[in-house]
Amino acid sequence: MAAGAPSRLAAVNADLSLAEASREALAALPALAREGSFEMQELQSLSETLALPHDFPRSYRSLPGDLATRTRGWIGTGQAAGPRQRALLLALLAGLEQRAAAFRLPALFELEWARLAARLLQQNLTQPLPAVDFEDDGYRKDLALLLLRLIPCRSHVVHPNSGLPRRLLFLPRNWMSALRWQFDGGIRPAPAIENHVHTRMLADFSPAGREQCYRLAAALLLHWPEQRGLMGSSWLYDSVLSTVSPNLRYLSHVPAQHGAVFLVVGATHIATRDATVRSESRRAAIAEGRYRPRVVAFFWPRERLIQSPWGRSPSAW
Ligand SMILES: CC(C)(COP(=O)(O)OP(=O)(O)OC[C@H]1O[C@@H](n2cnc3c(N)ncnc32)[C@H](O)[C@@H]1OP(=O)(O)O)[C@@H](O)C(=O)NCCC(=O)NCCS
Repeated sequence: MAAGAPSRLAAVNADLSLAEASREALAALPALAREGSFEMQELQSLSETLALPHDFPRSYRSLPGDLATRTRGWIGTGQAAGPRQRALLLALLAGLEQRAAAFRLPALFELEWARLAARLLQQNLTQPLPAVDFEDDGYRKDLALLLLRLIPCRSHVVHPNSGLPRRLLFLPRNWMSALRWQFDGGIRPAPAIENHVHTRMLADFSPAGREQCYRLAAALLLHWPEQRGLMGSSWLYDSVLSTVSPNLRYLSHVPAQHGAVFLVVGATHIATRDATVRSESRRAAIAEGRYRPRVVAFFWPRERLIQSPWGRSPSAW
C-alpha cells in the first residue's frame, strides 16, 4: 500500500471485548435468519459441529469428513447465500472467546482476537461484504480463523507445522541461499510457522502491520519451541518486485536484513494473476517486459527472528 495512503477499510475498533462481540453477533442472528430463510436450530447445529475439536486435514482450507459438503449445501446459492454466510461466521464468532481461551496463546494475542472480532462484526454487520462462492479464499480464511486453524497475525494470518519443500534447496539458482541455510542449523525446514496474506485484513497490510506480525511470530516461536522459523511463499517476497513497486520493498528487505533466507520457486500464472489484480503499474511493467512475477519463498530461522529487533522489543511482551 502506498506510504501514507489512507486505509481502504475503516479503522477497526478493537476496544470491544470478545464477550461484547459475542453478544453483538448473537443479537444479529434472528434478523439474518429471516433474511436467509433458515431456522436458528439449523445454524446452531452446523456451527457447533464445525467448532468441535476435530482431526483436521493438513490445509487450513480443509474441513474434516463431509463438513465442507454440508456447509456448502447449507449456505446454498441465490439470495439466501449472503445472509447465511454471514450468519455462520457470526455464530462461530459467538463461541470464539471460549475457544481462544482454551488455545492459550501468549497474552499478546488477546488484542489480535479482539481485532478479529471487531473486523468480523464490521464486515458482516456494519458494512457487509457481498456474498461469495464457498471456495472463496477470503471466506475460507475467516472460517479457518474462527475454527483456530489460522491465527491472526496483524498484517497476515499464520499456522504452525508447515515447511518448504526440500527440493527448492537443490535448484542451482538457490545454491547460495542453500549454503547459508545449512550453516544456520540444518537444511530440513519443517516444521515452521507459515504466513499468508488475508485480503479481508488489508487495513493492516502495511510496514507497521508487518512489523507487529514479526513480534507476534517471535512470540509464537517462543511458545512453540519445535517450530523452526517463520516462512512464506509469494510473489510479494521477490526482491525484484521493488523495481516496479518500491512501496512493497519492505516485505523482502526487512527480513533479508535480519537473517531470513530467500529461495526462488519460479514464475507461475497464479503469481501473475495475484500481482496484477490491483496494480495498474505492475500490469504495464509486465506488458512492457520489465517485470515477470515469480514466487519466492522465505525462511526466517527461529533464533534469528527471536534475536531481531521484533523478537527483543520490550513492547512485544
Ligand atoms: C497482496 C496485495 C494485498 C498487496 O496490496 P496492494 O495494496 O495491492 O499493494 P500495492 O501497494 O502494490 O497497491 C496496489 C495498487 O493499489 C493502489 N493503492 C494502494 N493503496 C491505496 C489506497 N489506499 N487507495 C487506493 N489505491 C491504493 C496502489 O497505488 C497500487 O497501484 P499501482 O501499483 O498501479 O500504483 C494485493 O496485491 C492483492 O490483494 N493481491 C491478490 C492476492 C495476493 O496476491 N495474495 C498473496 C498471495 S501469496
